[in-house]
Amino acid sequence: MKFSFDIIAPIYDKLIPYQEPREILDQLPRAFETMIEIGAGTGKFAEFFLPLVNEAWLLDPSPRMLIRAKRRNHRFKIKTGVAENLPFPDSFFDLILVSDSLHHWDDPEKGIAEIKRCLKPSGHLVIVEINPKTKPGRFITSMEKTLLMKSTFFTPEHLHILLTNNELRTKKIGKLRGPTYYIIAVNPKTQQDLQ
Ligand SMILES: C[S@@+](CC[C@H](N)C(=O)[O-])C[C@H]1O[C@@H](n2cnc3c(N)ncnc32)[C@H](O)[C@@H]1O
Repeated sequence: MKFSFDIIAPIYDKLIPYQEPREILDQLPRAFETMIEIGAGTGKFAEFFLPLVNEAWLLDPSPRMLIRAKRRNHRFKIKTGVAENLPFPDSFFDLILVSDSLHHWDDPEKGIAEIKRCLKPSGHLVIVEINPKTKPGRFITSMEKTLLMKSTFFTPEHLHILLTNNELRTKKIGKLRGPTYYIIAVNPKTQQDLQ
């Protein structure tokens, strides 16, 4: 049986506090039309990006996490679903966020291919993940194994390769607190922009 975030939705925000990702915000363009966070949970990461966007979607398989997100901010448009099968047309989003969620996906390769499909040319992708090669990352990896979460963690180098294989260009890899890192990538307009 797969772990469901529905079970911990009522206590999730208390369990996992979050800091403003200032370093990421400072490196992004100042205005986007349409944004989505995939695996958005209670929306606490996406909320920091609201000042930059006109329209903000949140997608998550857990309805109980999404209900909390909607309570957090009524600007959020919520949709139940998974990364591997995004219920949106091609080239729909200018900004796609994935925070602390990729390692929970059943099929990360398929999820990244879906991101490529739904991201507009020149659109931005921000992924925040845990590096399993760090000491606290190793602890989190074994903890999630004990909780039968079936997580697949990516090192920054491995994630960069996965993005490149899907024709997404890595702009920056940076470190946040503890074992957490981020990648900012762009969907190149042309094949030449991929270099
Ligand atoms: C640790 S929470 C992170 C929530 C939020 N992004 C944050 O930073 O607080 C991971 C989220 O990923 C979601 N998730 C699990 N499998 C998923 C999938 N296949 N596609 C999209 N989201 C998924 C879970 O339901 C959960 O809400």
